[in-house]
Amino acid sequence: MRTVHVDLGAKSYDIEIERGILGRLGETIKMLLPKAEKAAVITDSHVGPLYAAVLQQTLENAGFAVTVLTFTAGEESKNLTTLGTLYDGLAEAGLTRSDMVIALGGGVTGDMGGLAAATFLRGIAFVQIPTSLLATVDSSVGGKVAIDLSSGKNLVGAFYQPKAVFIDPDLLQTLPVRYLHDGLAEVIKYGCIRDKGLFEKLEKLEDDTDLLVHADEIIEICCTIKARIVERDEFDTGERMLLNFGHTLGHAVEKTFHFDTYSHGEGVGIGMVLLTRRSEALGLTEPGTADKIECLLRKFNLPSTVQMGQEDFLKATALDKKKRGSQLTLILLKTIGESFLQKVKFSDLPAFLPEE
Ligand code: GLY
Repeated sequence: MRTVHVDLGAKSYDIEIERGILGRLGETIKMLLPKAEKAAVITDSHVGPLYAAVLQQTLENAGFAVTVLTFTAGEESKNLTTLGTLYDGLAEAGLTRSDMVIALGGGVTGDMGGLAAATFLRGIAFVQIPTSLLATVDSSVGGKVAIDLSSGKNLVGAFYQPKAVFIDPDLLQTLPVRYLHDGLAEVIKYGCIRDKGLFEKLEKLEDDTDLLVHADEIIEICCTIKARIVERDEFDTGERMLLNFGHTLGHAVEKTFHFDTYSHGEGVGIGMVLLTRRSEALGLTEPGTADKIECLLRKFNLPSTVQMGQEDFLKATALDKKKRGSQLTLILLKTIGESFLQKVKFSDLPAFLPEE
């Protein structure tokens, strides 16, 4: 068992990483939340049929009354309508403030299940069991929970820390390969912003099988990096923004292609390479850094370029401008493993965008 402690005072919790842990969680959760009698497992139509029964069984064996609430898989479900249905399910199951919500799934499930937990009865205990690589290394850690509005992603949310995060790397075996790579882009991001050793470890991986063999260690390294950052900046006003390396351009790519061509990780990969090429040209980043990132992305079939010019990027970041005023913060690399925040006026943004 690998444990990463997230030290947030009274809101501290552990991330436990262990193969096969899913089927053994009942007693562990009983010890964690001894007053809870009921558990609502929130999951989606892809993950639920694979893993909800195993979780339900171990919880029932430990004495919990379990309700499984399943919504249709996909980002399109991460909205007020689905959240409303989940609230109704929690109320019908008779959950009280001493009970718990368990999110079993990827980022959408964790974000929406977390928001349901944060707000139902003004907040009940929340446990995350992430099942995608992206969710294990990023969205399940740090307490950001949210749903989307038609005007943008994650526009309604909260910071609400889970009581624990349980990661069973064996569950990644059933993840479609595109989504394994999607999460790997975020793993590469951690190497870029904080850990040259991790980046080099990833360069040495032979293929997806090798990635899955080393998943425990890789997830532990990423969660540790994120935990230390979140401990110092829980509410995302400074250092935590480093986690957004590649995301400003990546979101622009996702948005320009209507969120149906490039996955989040694919957008982030493209964003990391394009931004780093420009920051190299501006003399802010060690030459050759963008090539290294591109080479690693390509090894795992992740894209590193896109048919978009400066105008497309400016149009796609227009909402950011409305939200953030006259300047935004870009995350740049000095070299692999060293990153910094760079405040940029919107009027100076074109210098950081790919040329036509
Ligand atoms: N996904 C970035 C963060 O949690 O801050």
